[in-house]
Amino acid sequence: MKKVLAINGSPRRNCNTAKLLESALNGAKDAGAQTELVHLYGLNFKGCISCLYCKRKDKEHGTCAMKDDLTPVLERIKEADALIFGSPIYFMNLSAGMIAFMERLFFSNYIYSDEIPTVFPKSLPNAFIYTMNMTEDHVKDFGIRERFAFHEGTAERILKAKPKILYAYDTYQFNDYSKYESSIFDAEHKAKMREEVFPKQLDEAYELGKSLTQL
Ligand SMILES: Cc1cc2nc3c(=O)[nH]c(=O)nc-3n(C[C@H](O)[C@H](O)[C@H](O)COP(=O)(O)O)c2cc1C
Repeated sequence: MKKVLAINGSPRRNCNTAKLLESALNGAKDAGAQTELVHLYGLNFKGCISCLYCKRKDKEHGTCAMKDDLTPVLERIKEADALIFGSPIYFMNLSAGMIAFMERLFFSNYIYSDEIPTVFPKSLPNAFIYTMNMTEDHVKDFGIRERFAFHEGTAERILKAKPKILYAYDTYQFNDYSKYESSIFDAEHKAKMREEVFPKQLDEAYELGKSLTQL
């Protein structure tokens, strides 16, 4: 049975990113896979501390020497058949938790060698799901796709598989817009997005999860 792991890079366990990841995992489950959702913000871990253990010639490459809550997750990723990265956009970037996670996963498998750019043991189908307040036009205007292509390119080099990508634009951020200073947003428009567009994004995530099991 295939195993699909999803990584929630949002601190919120039940909001947009988590819901899309759950839908993707439901797609994978319905295609016969075993699934797991990891909430990064429930784990006690740090980003790479540059100890360089993973680069030593006398040690096994591909293992992060740091021991914390991320250690077993990194091990399970080696056993997985697909991996889904989910992150909200924070200040035009991935969340700090997602970046810290990617540092650990990618650097420990990256080798400073032209011959062996990665020691990750296999080709791992993968995908990125992004959630954000920005609209599709904002994403174009700010060059977000080009910026995130760097993260996706690193994933492709290390995991030896081209990521699939899902952008969920203009998400619903507050449970009640009237209770928060949020005047730059049109609460009615946001509610409409949540009711009419988000379900379609959930469907897209479902199909994405399903498709990852078929690679
Ligand atoms: C610290 C912080 C920074 C944010 N920065 C951006 C941003 O630069 N661009 C954007 O479109 N949304 C930004 N947002 C909004 C979130 O990306 C958006 O609400 C997202 O869907 C949240 O995901 P979640 O519901 O899974 O937590 C930010 C939110 C937070 C908390």
